[in-house]
Amino acid sequence: MQVPFGDFKRQYMELQREIDDAMHRVLQSGAYVLGPSVKSFEAEFAGYCQVPFCVGVGNGTDAIQLGLTALGVGQGDEVITVANTGVPGTAAIVAIGAIPVFVDVDATTRNMNPRLIEQAITPRTKAIMPVHLYGLMADMPAIIAVAQGHGIPVIEDVAQAHGARAHGSRAGSIGAVAAFSFYPSKNLGAIGDGGAITTNDQTIDTHLRKLRVYGWERKYYSIEEFGMNSRLDEIQAAILAVKLRHLDASTARRVQIARYYAEQLAHTGLILPTTPTGYEAVYHLYVVESAHREAYMTGLKTAGVTTDIHYPMPTHYQPIYQRYAPVWKLENTVRQSETVFSLPNFPELSDAEVEYVAHATRQVAKTIKGT
Ligand SMILES: Cc1ncc(COP(=O)(O)O)c(C=O)c1O
Repeated sequence: MQVPFGDFKRQYMELQREIDDAMHRVLQSGAYVLGPSVKSFEAEFAGYCQVPFCVGVGNGTDAIQLGLTALGVGQGDEVITVANTGVPGTAAIVAIGAIPVFVDVDATTRNMNPRLIEQAITPRTKAIMPVHLYGLMADMPAIIAVAQGHGIPVIEDVAQAHGARAHGSRAGSIGAVAAFSFYPSKNLGAIGDGGAITTNDQTIDTHLRKLRVYGWERKYYSIEEFGMNSRLDEIQAAILAVKLRHLDASTARRVQIARYYAEQLAHTGLILPTTPTGYEAVYHLYVVESAHREAYMTGLKTAGVTTDIHYPMPTHYQPIYQRYAPVWKLENTVRQSETVFSLPNFPELSDAEVEYVAHATRQVAKTIKGT
């Protein structure tokens, strides 16, 4: 059996009629940019995230860049964040002339360690950006407590955690702003690029609506510096509205697969993801850890199972970002980059495929234990 790591086409095939209808409605409407589909999707997604405001933008990286700009972050300001992602957050920080300040992540949750924030705060700190990595929310109450103590706003990177909850609150409803990606592999994915920013603050919402269209207050009249052209397409918005209706069901399937893996792989020696009490993870990725990563990945590849590494090089090790390496060590970030790998976990996997992945992983584990 061959099990892919992901397969965008399967999701399209399952929702083909609804998606095709939505696309045709947009095509026939003649409204292709910032029209009724974006407006209604923004309202629906805001409702889903339990916030009053949502602004659709071009992609998740722009969402971070625009969100930071709306918080007043700019040239020479510092943003405290993590170094264990695939880089977009840092790219967005650097794009506006700001400076990423990395703190280490927790060994178990792999999310920003709130106890390490205080030491990273300086008079130039203008924002704190935790990432809800792999579908598990960061410890927002602890992060917000430190941030509020210093009057610093928090921007949530929710690219991997649509619908996740902690202590009853949705990801994207807690920070001053929150940035979402709708890249096709995400839990809520478009048929191309897309993104959104959520906020509870009407002033920020109004500001963002200008920033995403060149800083225009009205057509051809700009009043905001640092405006961009970053708009969610009508077609993508119409498709996202369809997929939003199925999001809870597809999350439930991801969780079901994760639970099955947890049960089946309990005695393999792999370090499995854990969800702290009070948290509802949405398993954007199912990430395990092993000192024998190479052997696992090679063994699984031979068995026909595709795996991947999220992420192989911490941001502060990337040659262009090395100058932002902090004076303190990011021990967990570095160790995890050497040990993590991800098993296939997407909603359209069949039961037979999921069983096969678990079986193949157990078989490889036996050979590793024997060496
Ligand atoms: C944690 C994180 N932040 C931000 C992004 C950026 O999103 P996009 O690819 O839509 O720009 C991604 C996805 O690639 C991501 O995984």
